[in-house]
Amino acid sequence: MTQPRPAAVIVLAAGEGRRMRSRLPKVLHPLAGRTLLEHVLAAAEPVRPERVVVVVGHGREQVTAMLAERAPHVATAVQEHQGGTGHAVRAALGALGDLPPDAAAVVLPGDVPLLTSAAVAALVDRHQASGAAATVLTAAVADPTGYGRIVRGPGGEVREIVEQRDADATTAAINEINTGVYVFDVELLRGALKRLTTENAQGEEYLTDVVGLLVTDGLPVGAHVLADAAEAAGVNDRRQLGEAGLVLRDRIVTAAMLAGTTIVDPASTWIDAGVVLEPDTTIWPNTHLRGATSIAAGAEVGPDCTLVNTVVAAGARVTRSVLEGAEVGPGAAVGPFAHLRPGTRLGRSGRIGAFVETKAADIGAETKVPHLAYVGDAVIGERTNIGCTTVFVNYDGVAKHRTVIGSDVRIGSDTMLVAPVTVGDGAYTGAGSVIREDVPPGALAVREGRQRTIVDWVLRRRPDSAAARAAQAAQAGRESTQRRPGT
Ligand code: UD1
Ligand code: CA
Repeated sequence: MTQPRPAAVIVLAAGEGRRMRSRLPKVLHPLAGRTLLEHVLAAAEPVRPERVVVVVGHGREQVTAMLAERAPHVATAVQEHQGGTGHAVRAALGALGDLPPDAAAVVLPGDVPLLTSAAVAALVDRHQASGAAATVLTAAVADPTGYGRIVRGPGGEVREIVEQRDADATTAAINEINTGVYVFDVELLRGALKRLTTENAQGEEYLTDVVGLLVTDGLPVGAHVLADAAEAAGVNDRRQLGEAGLVLRDRIVTAAMLAGTTIVDPASTWIDAGVVLEPDTTIWPNTHLRGATSIAAGAEVGPDCTLVNTVVAAGARVTRSVLEGAEVGPGAAVGPFAHLRPGTRLGRSGRIGAFVETKAADIGAETKVPHLAYVGDAVIGERTNIGCTTVFVNYDGVAKHRTVIGSDVRIGSDTMLVAPVTVGDGAYTGAGSVIREDVPPGALAVREGRQRTIVDWVLRRRPDSAAARAAQAAQAGRESTQRRPGT
């Protein structure tokens, strides 16, 4: 008899994760741009339950704040002290309130980031089709150390789950492990949880003991074996965190390559789970694409780039640069060695070159900032050129001010644009100018002191120096050249 879809999803996230040796609650550690807990919630999405409850305890302010921001549909239940996984599920059931009499619930640990939604869907299908009281997701692994072991009877039926620390040698040798993911009939689960004891090596109420209790009651408990055992990996320490990160990296990079992105060096390419890559993009080595970054067709990024929440349009090229909250227009070029900070928008075919930093800068199509400049709080029109060592002097020590530059403007090298200031279309500024007043369209603004040249200063004040000798040689040469026509 087919059962109804599970009405609830319960994620256990109250543990301290002591083995992480961290001030951050374990489930908030990030991998591929998402916390461990968000990975688990994403895996549970296909269940489409009426209610999702996360059990919080250790560091609950932080966990609750993350959920409020990134998964607002999720409710939380507080487990006051961490009395074990069974104790945690009891807290969750308290928060779930009334459910239909035949309701089922999916329970997941918060620390299994590699679990896929396909595996959760398959587990639910198996549970619904079998009509079991509970179905546990298991995996056959080479090294079962640390996991609960699945004890089966002579007919292959599930008997009980025994934790590593409570296992004798024979049980410890079993290599089918408990992933910590289950589907339970809620009423039967409620009944069994009341009968849990703390008579085990850790003195905790184990959720795993519910399986043995249901079997003793003569109720059928099923198992679904993971097709890919790697999905079962729980993260309990930072070594496992690193290993899980590598698996996720490979998964994301492989999916991107199969979808049409050339990844020159997969081993040095790190892409967050939410990044969008269009076909015919190229990612060069040692590149990190993070957050809500997207790269459009024909664009190339890298080598040695970090892009955070950045949009790169079609055909653009970004080399050896750091971009955060930036937009790079179609066919535009950035780098090498540029730093684009939040609010930077570079227009179509624009260019930002070496040692340029930008912030809150709207830079028009075909405009170039080729080298050594700071552009902050600025609007720049189209086809304008910003000369080398130009500084948008946006901060007077108290407040930030805006600079507005028109189209077809030529800002001379080493111009200081002291904001607030406006330079009109087609205007020029002279090299080395400090521009404090608006420049009207078509004007040239220069602020120059007269150059003072003190003849033979080096010969008098630095006699016998290399400079003096070079100057003397040059002067002698000039005299002989000057004499030559007369000879
Ligand atoms: C648990 C299982 C084990 C399984 C493994 C899979 C039990 C007793 N053991 O072991 O069979 O192989 O997961 O990864 O269930 N938590 C709470 N409150 C608590 C205790 C834990 O919310 O009082 C949460 C933790 O935050 C964590 C999850 O439950 O997200 C699992 O707890 P953990 O201590 O990591 O269990 P394991 O020892 O890995
Ligand atoms: Ca664990």
